[in-house]
Amino acid sequence: MTTTTFASGDSDARTAVTVLGLGEMGSALAGAFVAGGRPTTVWNRTPGRDEALLALGARPAGDVREAVAAGSLVIVNVKGNDAAREILAAAGDALAGRAVVNLTDGTSGEARAMAEWAAGREAAYLHGQIMTIAPAVGDPDAVVFYGGSGEVFARYGAELALIGGRGSLLGEDAGIPGLYGMAVHGTMWGTLNGFLHAAALLSAEGVEVRRFLEQAGPSVSALFSILPSIAAEVDRGEYAADFGALKHHLPSLADLVGESRARGIDVEFPEYTRALVADAVERGHGEDSYSRLVEHFGKR
Ligand SMILES: NC(=O)c1ccc[n+]([C@@H]2O[C@H](COP(=O)([O-])OP(=O)(O)OC[C@H]3O[C@@H](n4cnc5c(N)ncnc54)[C@H](OP(=O)(O)O)[C@@H]3O)[C@@H](O)[C@H]2O)c1
Repeated sequence: MTTTTFASGDSDARTAVTVLGLGEMGSALAGAFVAGGRPTTVWNRTPGRDEALLALGARPAGDVREAVAAGSLVIVNVKGNDAAREILAAAGDALAGRAVVNLTDGTSGEARAMAEWAAGREAAYLHGQIMTIAPAVGDPDAVVFYGGSGEVFARYGAELALIGGRGSLLGEDAGIPGLYGMAVHGTMWGTLNGFLHAAALLSAEGVEVRRFLEQAGPSVSALFSILPSIAAEVDRGEYAADFGALKHHLPSLADLVGESRARGIDVEFPEYTRALVADAVERGHGEDSYSRLVEHFGKR
């Protein structure tokens, strides 16, 4: 799969943008378009949420149809794809010929269904997964994953760059951006839980966690450098132990569980990992790489 980033073309400040949904994120998006000098029309189900934007120069719309008719680029950002579809449906035939960029979070299946639905209404469709919080919209380093119409991505690159400077088109599949988002978040939660468990252990001893990070930080950061080889092993479906065999993790895991238990720290998290490794070793994978555990997570 190839990744395309924004082309450095001339931006057209006359491009009219419509933003449907003015929650925390939708308001930030509309604000970014207004700040970028684009004629921006806004609509929200509950009236009154557009006041600050109107004061900045956004234009109000009486209904969805009017809003959609006002913009060649239509952004929708609400809670849930059912709501996004319901809103877009209210535009009727005004949707035909529009470029719709749906920035509503949801599953890959929902995004693909939205793409199919939009195609049935002759709208070009791009799905986007915003990887930042609302206050960081517009940041040159803000990441947005896109999937769907390459034509929309190329044509409205200058407008999409106003949302986040690090937008990339992952391919034509509208379902992939959400999946990337979940993969990033899943990695984040696993990492944070491991770190917070460690922090609880250190705190129980009276060790300042910041001090730990200053002294042991390079060891923690180094963990991320092994991800490319883990990824390659998973892709190949081969789990040769280039960085140490799975069986060598067991004693350290037993220590972590024992230390946690002795201090009254939650053992569920390390015990879960210990049991996974022990099971893989029992099944004869002790000489394999840690990446072998993907088979556990891949099970149905
Ligand atoms: N906030 C963030 O920092 C952030 C970051 C990344 C991604 N996101 C994603 O952005 C999307 C919006 O999040 P948010 O934080 O802006 O949510 P929010 O502040 O709770 O706003 C929700 C928006 O959805 C609208 N809405 C909900 N149900 C609707 C329905 N059935 N019909 C019409 N409109 C409906 C609301 O309209 P009303 O005003 O009428 O209720 C409101 O505009 C979500 O997919 C979220 O996961 C948000």
